[in-house]
Amino acid sequence: MSFKLKTSEFDHFADLSRDWWLKNGKFKILHDIQPIRIKYIQDVINRKTLQKIKILDLGCGGGLVSEGLSKLGANVTGIDFIKDNINAAKIHAKKNNLKINYKILNFESEKINSKFDVIVIFEVLEHLSNWKYFIEKIHSNLNPNGILIISTINRNLLSKFLAIDLAENYLKWIPTNTHTYHKFIKPKELEHILMKNNFKNINFQGLEYKPLKKKWHLSKNTRVNYFCNCKLI
Ligand SMILES: C[S@@+](CC[C@H](N)C(=O)[O-])C[C@H]1O[C@@H](n2cnc3c(N)ncnc32)[C@H](O)[C@@H]1O
Repeated sequence: MSFKLKTSEFDHFADLSRDWWLKNGKFKILHDIQPIRIKYIQDVINRKTLQKIKILDLGCGGGLVSEGLSKLGANVTGIDFIKDNINAAKIHAKKNNLKINYKILNFESEKINSKFDVIVIFEVLEHLSNWKYFIEKIHSNLNPNGILIISTINRNLLSKFLAIDLAENYLKWIPTNTHTYHKFIKPKELEHILMKNNFKNINFQGLEYKPLKKKWHLSKNTRVNYFCNCKLI
């Protein structure tokens, strides 16, 4: 079987920009896990409403997470380097009467000027050219006691099989070539870099799919998809 080679992360996500808000489209899984992701953020911040909390959603795509947080009252900024993603996000937010500050910016190569109480980086680190350097850089955009919330994919044979071979190439749940195995991140590697950059209270939690129930749920198993949260102290 042969697969189209990935040109670049930018071209890959630019090709998908029309699908962001299609519940059964290319981002179906992100829609399916949306309630879990928003609840996870609420639990980490330890507040049901997020009124007055300044949140940065990095790699916001079409604004799924940004909207979920804005609906809870947070003051949200969403950043993505693809103009069509930001356009899709702006149009959808307007339809829903949500005030979200969307910006087109490559946050690996350009500077983000403001500071935030919470930074969310969901399904993004594994697409960057240098995630370790990026964690160091993002530091300066957090207020004291700021919270960093990440979701990404572990690197091992099981995650390769489930996230790439099965979800992308066989079941087509995720567009082919979305992920590159060597860019996956082991929790230990992430923990090491977070500690090096003065992040404390580092917690990990797994996100697992139960095929019989056809449901995603949080678990202790971080072997494939996982969340991480920590605090800048
Ligand atoms: C898998 S999507 C995740 C979208 C969103 N965070 C979510 O989970 O619903 C990755 C997103 O990161 C964006 N992205 C990747 N690298 C980026 C960079 N260097 N600067 C800005 N956006 C980037 C892509 O355009 C894409 O929208």
